[in-house]
Amino acid sequence: MNGSLLFVLSIIILVDVVTSCPFKCLCHPNSRIVDCRNQGLAKVPSYLPAETQILLLSNNGIQKLNQRTFRGTQTLKILDLSNNSISGLLPETFRELEYLQILNLTNNFIEYVDNKTFSSLPHLRALDLSSNNISRLPRTLGNKTENITLLSLKYNHLQEVDRLLLESLPNLKTIFFKGNFWQCNCQAFGLKLWLETFLYSGGISDEIICSIPENRKGKDLLKIPYELYGTCFPTASQGHQVYWHHNSRHKGSAKHTHPSEYGGNSTHINCERKSKPRSVNLRHSVVTVAITGVVCGIICLMMLAAAIYGCAYAVITAKYHQENSYPGKEEGSHEEKEPFENSLA
Ligand SMILES: *[C@@H]1O[C@H](CO)[C@@H](O)[C@H](O)[C@H]1NC(C)=O
Ligand SMILES: *[C@@H]1O[C@H](CO)[C@@H](O)[C@H](O)[C@H]1NC(C)=O
Ligand SMILES: *[C@@H]1O[C@H](CO)[C@@H](O)[C@H](O)[C@H]1NC(C)=O
Ligand SMILES: *[C@@H]1O[C@H](CO)[C@@H](O)[C@H](O)[C@H]1NC(C)=O
Ligand SMILES: *[C@@H]1O[C@H](CO)[C@@H](O)[C@H](O)[C@H]1NC(C)=O
Ligand SMILES: *[C@@H]1O[C@H](CO)[C@@H](O)[C@H](O)[C@H]1NC(C)=O
Ligand SMILES: *[C@@H]1O[C@H](CO)[C@@H](O)[C@H](O)[C@H]1NC(C)=O
Repeated sequence: MNGSLLFVLSIIILVDVVTSCPFKCLCHPNSRIVDCRNQGLAKVPSYLPAETQILLLSNNGIQKLNQRTFRGTQTLKILDLSNNSISGLLPETFRELEYLQILNLTNNFIEYVDNKTFSSLPHLRALDLSSNNISRLPRTLGNKTENITLLSLKYNHLQEVDRLLLESLPNLKTIFFKGNFWQCNCQAFGLKLWLETFLYSGGISDEIICSIPENRKGKDLLKIPYELYGTCFPTASQGHQVYWHHNSRHKGSAKHTHPSEYGGNSTHINCERKSKPRSVNLRHSVVTVAITGVVCGIICLMMLAAAIYGCAYAVITAKYHQENSYPGKEEGSHEEKEPFENSLA
């Protein structure tokens, strides 16, 4: 009797601990929000009330996340970790959050994102990585990224972003780039082309302002003319890959980048894309020259015809006048005009 009462009691206490509102947080059961903002928390609460969908943790002192951090919070749809002190994201950190739609990591100290970090979030729609220390992004965020519509990369330490990463986000609508150290050399050409296509098809973005090289500092990548990228594309027969490998190796030693990511296929695509607008331009100019030539020819012929007609008319008129006023000198004047008329004919 006593023992079973104790058992029931301990179950009740346990359930209560598991589902009660975490220390220092406010819980709104109806809206399924747990609000732990501005509480000086050093870690993410381990357990949340059942069915919690929104967890607000901004303006705290959270430094570390690991693969067990979100084990008790699997139903989350919105997770706001903005303005904390998170420096590293392990590949498995968010693995449990399979319903997550909005992940806000702005204003932390994240330096690197792995290709697995967000790969288990099939419903993810918005990913805010702004105001971190990210200097390197993977070539893909995983193979479940089709729901991502917003990505913010602004105010980081990025010098480049692989075009493949952007192309692997098919439903992206909004992306922010500003406040990075964009390197506007040959490598940025793929980014330029991608961004032009993205904006053309209705995407929303901000500017990519170059930091490097020195002569392009402060310039908008979209406004750098194609002609200035001419040196990036040696004549077709020389083969792009040799040139590119050489280029990235050279750069890698100086600028701490990753040569292997830039050789081969992705750059090859860039080069092929470039050659298209050029040949279209060439074709345009050929057509223009041909049309101009034809039009000029027609105008010249018309002018010649008009001149002949005018002269002939003048001659006939003059002759007519002469005949009328000096009938006696008819033969002489006829002889005078005849060579002129012949020469025009
Ligand atoms: C970030 O959080 C700290 C407290 O951890 C707070 O003092 C600061 O005002 C917050 N910054 C912003 C921009 O909200
Ligand atoms: C992330 O949080 C910041 C403030 O904490 C806010 O300004 C920003 O809009 C949020 N990002 C998204 C994608 O909701
Ligand atoms: C993730 O990156 C590692 C190297 O950083 C690579 O070996 C692996 O193939 C990548 N995985 C995917 C799915 O791209
Ligand atoms: C994208 O989201 C929809 C609805 O939230 C879901 O049905 C779909 O499976 C998601 N996409 C992927 C790749 O999981
Ligand atoms: C992150 O970058 C800021 C400047 O953008 C710098 O002050 C800070 O020391 C960096 N933090 C780390 C952990 O690298
Ligand atoms: C997606 O990635 C996971 C691991 O990240 C892998 O196991 C799976 O085979 C991939 N699926 C496809 C279709 O590439
Ligand atoms: C280019 O991609 C194809 C598959 O798409 C692959 O077989 C080939 O090895 C890649 N070449 C380079 C140089 O990376």
